[in-house]
Amino acid sequence: MYIGNIKIDGVVALGPMAGITTESYRRFMKPYGVALSYTEMISDCGIIYRNQETFTYLPSNKSDHPVALQLFGSSKETLLQALAIIEQEQVPYDILDINLGCPMPKVTKNGGGSSWLTRPQELFEMMSLLVKNSPKPVTAKIRLGWDENSINFFEIIHRLEEAGVAAIALHVRTRAQMYSGFGKYELVENLRSKMRVPLIISGDIFTLDDAVKARNITGAEMVMVARGGVGHPHLIQQIDHYYKTGVKLNDASLQEQIVAMKHLLKLSVEDRGEKRTLNEMRGTLPKFLTGYPHTKKYRVAITSQATSIIDIENILLQVEKDALSV
Ligand SMILES: Cc1cc2nc3c(=O)[nH]c(=O)nc-3n(C[C@H](O)[C@H](O)[C@H](O)COP(=O)(O)O)c2cc1C
Repeated sequence: MYIGNIKIDGVVALGPMAGITTESYRRFMKPYGVALSYTEMISDCGIIYRNQETFTYLPSNKSDHPVALQLFGSSKETLLQALAIIEQEQVPYDILDINLGCPMPKVTKNGGGSSWLTRPQELFEMMSLLVKNSPKPVTAKIRLGWDENSINFFEIIHRLEEAGVAAIALHVRTRAQMYSGFGKYELVENLRSKMRVPLIISGDIFTLDDAVKARNITGAEMVMVARGGVGHPHLIQQIDHYYKTGVKLNDASLQEQIVAMKHLLKLSVEDRGEKRTLNEMRGTLPKFLTGYPHTKKYRVAITSQATSIIDIENILLQVEKDALSV
């Protein structure tokens, strides 16, 4: 399938996650079968003010592809300005994605993220302008609506299609739900058949069965793996492989998880340095061990005792020794 002129070879999108989908994380996940990835959301104003930290979120020459660069902002003027700078800087990306789903008050109170869903006309004007000015395909990531009483994803999808977007990702929760409760799949049955552009469906994809259900219910071309893939990269492989061959792969062994952890650690240190890696991996690496027996003490050690990358490497050696002796 294509998103605009970008060829997408598979059904799995790696969902944007602030603080997680760094370039090294995306490069780590790619070989498991990611057909499209997203940067974490990037502030348009951060780009306009040339904030150093913001610039580290932009794809570099080492990035995986195809990658959607996700911008958030609260006005068409600032989003357009940020786009002009990104183009001027020749940032290597494939798709421009606009965040219309972030529920965080610090974003919505300024008019960004999911608060756009409450201003469909302004949203239409902003997206039309971006589509007109962007040399790359423009996509959007939305939620069902602001809250239970204002579910308007259908109207928003049509406005976005009118504006000329090349695909839409829908997280099947309202803004008010944040990340809790369950995705409301009952509201999106056969949604794709009522749309003109490809649909990427997001919400509670934690197993291969979840992915199959989400696609069957909605008719979406792609499923977006977000929280379910953190610590479980094989989930992406299971989904990708199933849709390419019809074969269901087993869950990863502890040995495979250890190999994956070491690889992620290596890529992250190379890319982000030891200090940032240590902070980020204290949260991420223990998730690779969740569900594997006798690993709790190692999860705790990574989160609360490791004070250097060498400490983490030693803990992983210990996990490996234990796994081999069982
Ligand atoms: C920690 C975290 C950070 C997220 N950051 C972003 C983001 O920057 N942009 C975005 O569009 N969605 C973001 N999301 C939403 C996810 O991409 C996804 O739509 C959502 O988690 C639902 O999928 P899941 O239930 O399978 O995790 C984030 C989610 C989490 C848990």
